[in-house]
Formats: sequence, structure tokens, C-alpha cells
Amino acid sequence: MSKSTVFCLIVEVFRIQGGARLVGEVHVTGAKNSSLKLMAAALLAPGVTTIHAVPNILDVTIMAELLRRLGCTVNYSAVSETVTIDVPETIEHRADYDLVRRMRASIAVLGPLVARTGAADVALPGGDAIGSRGLDMHTAGLERMGATVTNEHGYLVVHAPDGGLVGTHVYLDFPSVGATETLLMAAVTASGQTIIDNAAREPEIVDICNMLVSMGGQISGIGTSLLTISGVSALRATEYTTVSDRIVAGTWAVAAVITRGDVTVHNANPEHLSIVLEKLTTVGANVEITGDGFRVQMDRRPTAVDIVTLPYPGFPTDLQPQFIALNSIAEGSAMVTENLFEARFRFVQELSRLGAEVRTDGHHALIRGRSQLSGAPVEATDIRAGAGLVLAGLVSDGETVVHAIEHIDRGYVDFETQLATLGANIVREASPELA
Ligand code: EPU
Repeated sequence: MSKSTVFCLIVEVFRIQGGARLVGEVHVTGAKNSSLKLMAAALLAPGVTTIHAVPNILDVTIMAELLRRLGCTVNYSAVSETVTIDVPETIEHRADYDLVRRMRASIAVLGPLVARTGAADVALPGGDAIGSRGLDMHTAGLERMGATVTNEHGYLVVHAPDGGLVGTHVYLDFPSVGATETLLMAAVTASGQTIIDNAAREPEIVDICNMLVSMGGQISGIGTSLLTISGVSALRATEYTTVSDRIVAGTWAVAAVITRGDVTVHNANPEHLSIVLEKLTTVGANVEITGDGFRVQMDRRPTAVDIVTLPYPGFPTDLQPQFIALNSIAEGSAMVTENLFEARFRFVQELSRLGAEVRTDGHHALIRGRSQLSGAPVEATDIRAGAGLVLAGLVSDGETVVHAIEHIDRGYVDFETQLATLGANIVREASPELA
């Protein structure tokens, strides 16, 4: 008989005792999904670019390391949440697999590298726990601007024509956030005019447009699905503050409702969450707009609510798991339709461990609300699934232990500390795990 060896790893988990009502105030930092792209955009101009409201999360560390390998000097202060990026006159053009595989947002360097150096070798980020996540719209757009794109040994190898990228009319099949960002950053110094038709309109897209404008870029139609970029010969370094994180703000809003609490969210833009706050009103919450955010109060069991995820201004896919958690303890049944990431229902299996009644069929999930969930060990499968499981744990009877919280740490700064400040019974602790 062969002997097998069992290794024991020490990992961190969240241990939650359900039942607390969340009451108090929270402050939202800058958006992860904007900060990372703004850091990549700094590559477009030599000199020192300073970006404020950059959250202290692992992905920022990974992006900083990627920029260092490209030749930049990067300093991040967790205290002031400010990053300074000193970009040299000449930068490298290779983004290595060891970093890119850890964070899909690394693809954000693709556009700036081709624009600045005329070439890019960027490791293919590959699949993700939430779906296949293609890059075809990024590459097709670059090809329309005159670039050649090949896939060599796991790397996307892109070359701009002699004389640089050329402005053109690009029609996106789908308003992809990533493709819109790549093409914006590629077009801003291309010769002539580029039109991105069916562009994404997320607040994070508006943010990167505004930063590019502050660097000297010429962009019109910001916030609409038709972006017109008039190429300029060079950009200059800038100082910029990241837009606040609407997904984190939305997560706090759901936390208030699911625990029948009363939470005031500061540094949040309610306009970025119009449809989400409207849905929370439908489930029975009282939502009040404040000077720098909003307050959400709930005093009864929520009523189930249907949601359909869509590109902005539709309902954000990044709040879908949190709403499934909410529906799982609501009165009645709800249908949740996921239109962006086919594997985002993977976490439903974990939610079922808490007793939630969810049936999925393709991109639909039917949730029958139960009056009470029951605490159990569960595992986060991605950032937002992790947030959804924590919220469910807060309203489960007894103890819930959430594993794989490194996913949650990628999107939520000091999540458990902030939850505990609001009254949640949650601790982070080291836990031995078999490997
Ligand atoms: N798609 C393609 N081809 C492309 C580009 C996209 O098929 O060339 C598909 C994707 O496979 C997906 C859909 O289009 O099915 C949407 O993708 P999109 O490009 O809009 O998303 P992304 O840029 O990959 C960003 C956020 C996600 C967020 C989505 C949608 C970052 C780093 N990620 O992803 O955030 O869900 O936009 O809003 O900005 C998260 O924060 O947890 C997260 C996953």
C-alpha cells in the first residue's frame, strides 16, 4: 500500500456568530476596479503621477509590482491611500505570467504599453472562477487600429504599425468594461480620431476618461456609449482621486437590510447605485440620501425581489451574490438572472450549505426565501461570492466559518473590522487546513 502525505496549511477564516443587527456608520474608499486601471493609465506619460483614494488591497500591490517590472518607481502609502508612480522615458513592454495570472486587471496595461512603446507582450490571464472572460474585443479593436496581434506561448503579442496606432471606428459587440478601457488608453495618443461605439458607461469608465483628460487627452461623450477620442501627441503626468467604490457601498446597503439594521454609508455616490437602492426600497428598506452618501434602515423581514444583471446603468453583476443572500431570507420567491458571467452562480452551492433554497438553470436562479438560515462552514469562490456568504452568515443561526477569505480581502479593506464596528460578531482567525 502506498503511503500518502497530508500537509497542513495555516489559512485565515472569518468566524461569524449570526444574529446581530448592524447599526452605525462606514466610510467607503476608492474603487478597486478604477484604481487599478488608473495606475495602468499612469504608464501613458513620463513623470510622477499621484493617485489618491487607492484602497489597501492585494491587487494594488500586484499592480504596483507589475509597474515596477515595466521600469516605474512605485510607492504606496496605506495610511494616506495614495500611490505615486514615477514613469521613466523608456518603459519595458512585457507583463509576466506570474503577476498577470494572479489578477485579471493586469490586462489594463495592454493599451498603455502599445500606445507608449508600440508593442506589448502580456501573459494571457486565462479563465476565472466567475466565467471564461474573453479578450476578443480588446484584440479586435487594437487590430482595427492597425496593430498585429498574435498568441505566442501563452502571451498576447501586440505590435503597433510603424508610426503608431491609427484612429478608427470600433463597434463593441458588448459594452465590455475591460475592452473599453484598453481601447481608450490605446486611442488617446493614436493619430486621428477613434470612435468607440457601444462603449461601457460604468462610473469607473467615466473615472478613467476624466483622468486621461487631466493628462491632456481629448475625449468627448464621457459617460455615454459613444466615446470620441481625438489623439494627442503626448500626455503629461497628473494628480487624480479615484471615484468611490459603488460595489462596496452597495454591499454595506445590503448588509443593513439583511440584518434589519441602520447603516449610514459615507463617501458614496447614490446616483451610481440608483437601481440597487431602488431594489432595496422595493424589499421594504427606507433609503435616505445624505450629504456624502446615504442611510439605509430596515425594520422587518425583506420581501423577495427579482434582479437582472446588465452593464451599467443596469443592475451590477458584482452585487448579484449579495442580493441572492438577501433573497434567501426574504419573504416570497425571487428570480435572479445573471447576464455577464456564466459561472457566477457557483457560490450558490456554498449558500445552500447554510440552508438557502436556490435552484439554478443556466443563467437564472430561483430563490425561495426562508425565515432562517443555519450556520455552517462555507468557502468563498470569488470576491463578491465571499461578500454574499459573509452577509448570509450574519443572519444564520449559530456559527458560520467562511474559508478562502483571501478572495474577500481582494475587494474589501478591513471588512471584518468594519462589520464588527457596526455590531457584527465576526473575527478573523488562523485555521489549520489540510492540503
Ligand atoms: N467579454 C468577452 N470578450 C472581451 C471582453 C469581455 O467575451 O473581449 C465578456 C466577458 O467574458 C464577460 C463580459 O464580456 O462575460 C463582461 O466583461 P467586461 O469586459 O465588461 O468585464 P471585465 O472588464 O472583465 C470588470 C470588473 C468586474 C466586473 C465587470 C462588469 C475589473 C478588474 N473587473 O471586469 O469586476 O464584474 O467589469 O462590471 O474591473 C469584481 O470586482 O469582482 C469583478 C469581477
